[in-house]
Amino acid sequence: MKNPLDTLGYKLLTSPVNDAQDESLIPTLSRRGFMVVSAALGSSCSMISSGKPEGGTGATAKVDPASVPTKTGPNTGYRTPKVQGPVPRNPTLNLPATGGSGITYSRVAVTQPYIAITFDDGPHPSNTPRLLDMLRERNIKATFYVIGRNVDLYPNVLRRTVSEGHEIGNHTFTHPILSKLSDSTVREELTKCRDAVARAAGVQPRTMRPPYGALLQRQREWIHAELNYPTILWSVDPLDWKRPGPSVVTSRILAGTTPGAIVLAHDLHGGTVDAMPSTLDGLLRKGYKFVTVSQLLAMATAAPAAGTGPVTAGQ
Ligand code: NI
Repeated sequence: MKNPLDTLGYKLLTSPVNDAQDESLIPTLSRRGFMVVSAALGSSCSMISSGKPEGGTGATAKVDPASVPTKTGPNTGYRTPKVQGPVPRNPTLNLPATGGSGITYSRVAVTQPYIAITFDDGPHPSNTPRLLDMLRERNIKATFYVIGRNVDLYPNVLRRTVSEGHEIGNHTFTHPILSKLSDSTVREELTKCRDAVARAAGVQPRTMRPPYGALLQRQREWIHAELNYPTILWSVDPLDWKRPGPSVVTSRILAGTTPGAIVLAHDLHGGTVDAMPSTLDGLLRKGYKFVTVSQLLAMATAAPAAGTGPVTAGQ
């Protein structure tokens, strides 16, 4: 699939970013590029409800890095609460090296009410930190299927995500439709995302999720054999990318979640994050316990749940 940036005549700065100091040198063009990429990714990723570029940047190809103080843009009114003591962790679980033996999972057969909530398409400079605060307040660990290009733009957000005990999954580097691509291009998409995650946070994804859920069985098999990634789909899809409103997102997730569920949501969208306090509290009230995807796979009591679940266009 052609790079959406090229299609639109933009060129994105993709030089690796290794520390906070380097980040400050990224021109405004990067942020604009991120917006364009997001807009070009299709309906599920076409809307960013916050984080408009500050003051009409009029990006050009020649921006003096020294004149650009920050790349993360406005995050008005948001403050990260002060940390009170150490961040509690999930109980230690023994995880198999490959995170389960199956090739594809949309849910997991478990004997207790464990679930995994997943957030796709980030990191986002304001929505992801806002979500991290909500998760932290409740000691909930989630799994983030990140886009490698966004990781390169916002490595600090990824570092925080990892440091607070969440799991990172591979969601490709540019969010293409993998089922239409050659094996070599698919391999490049996955390895570039993996390397961006490792560069930013020093960890490696344990699982992958194909954009739009689009991945052929043959591709799932070679990816599992070669890269050790099980393909993770979902069993609960609130269609949050269609912006149904926070209360609808909450009610769909609460209605659809069962033990062993893998819940799909998108931290790219502000409305989804707005829905999370009531969603998370509702799930906790129902007695669900949150684990990461790899933890959930490690709990599988039988063969992977049959079927691939409702693969909609929701991611
Ligand atoms: Ni996605």
